[in-house]
Amino acid sequence: MYTRKIDEYALFNTNKEKFEEIYSTEDPWKLRGRQEQFRYRRTIEFIRKNIQKPNMKILELGCSEGHFTAHLSKQEYRITAVDISEKAIQRAKKKNIPNAEFICADMIQFIANSELATYDLIIILECIYYLDKMRKAMFLEILHEKINSDAKVIISLPVNKDNEMFISEKRILKKFGQLGFGLYKNYYGVILSSKGKTGKLLEFIPFYGLKKLYLYAHKYLFPFRINQKLFLFRKD
Ligand SMILES: C[S@@+](CC[C@H](N)C(=O)[O-])C[C@H]1O[C@@H](n2cnc3c(N)ncnc32)[C@H](O)[C@@H]1O
Repeated sequence: MYTRKIDEYALFNTNKEKFEEIYSTEDPWKLRGRQEQFRYRRTIEFIRKNIQKPNMKILELGCSEGHFTAHLSKQEYRITAVDISEKAIQRAKKKNIPNAEFICADMIQFIANSELATYDLIIILECIYYLDKMRKAMFLEILHEKINSDAKVIISLPVNKDNEMFISEKRILKKFGQLGFGLYKNYYGVILSSKGKTGKLLEFIPFYGLKKLYLYAHKYLFPFRINQKLFLFRKD
């Protein structure tokens, strides 16, 4: 049993108002943009390559207005997609995606109260860092406790050298390891350049090896840019 109680702090300090305010404009993170669409296509590719299970049951947390869900839904998956913002979920529902159910909930409350063991894959893209330190630890602890032993978890987040905003890949792996997750595979990532062109450029580099080399060089030439990386974890 997870030891930390889901107390008032966890239940109510959700930043819900903040996200509703952000969603007073449609698509506040420009997720329909080229770079983000590139990231979504790469993520789907990563899933198809590494998790070969037909008819997977997927839980997507922090789904926003369903932009990535729309990509996922082209595969034969059964999807549950959750976001804290009512406005975002309303917009997602308007997409009428037949194989996706959209639910408005805080992700900690959702995983604590649902049958998590029925999912084959949990996807958490670019949203875990909105949880503060205590809630993040609690979230990962509950996740680890409740997922099926065969299930996989994909997390994407920006990695860089340790600074006040981002942490290094080494530290991410250490932290997840301490919480009982083992690294199954990771993806070289998409560097977000200030002009937002790197994603597009990467698309035109034909070979995986060359892409890797390019990203490697980029990391050292432009160390302050963000490397967005995908980690696929399994339960250890
Ligand atoms: C930057 S967007 C990322 C959207 C999408 N996952 C992607 O990668 O493009 C972060 C999303 O996380 C949602 N979010 C933040 N905290 C949340 C929480 N505690 N529970 C559920 N959703 C949350 C926000 O409402 C927002 O839609």
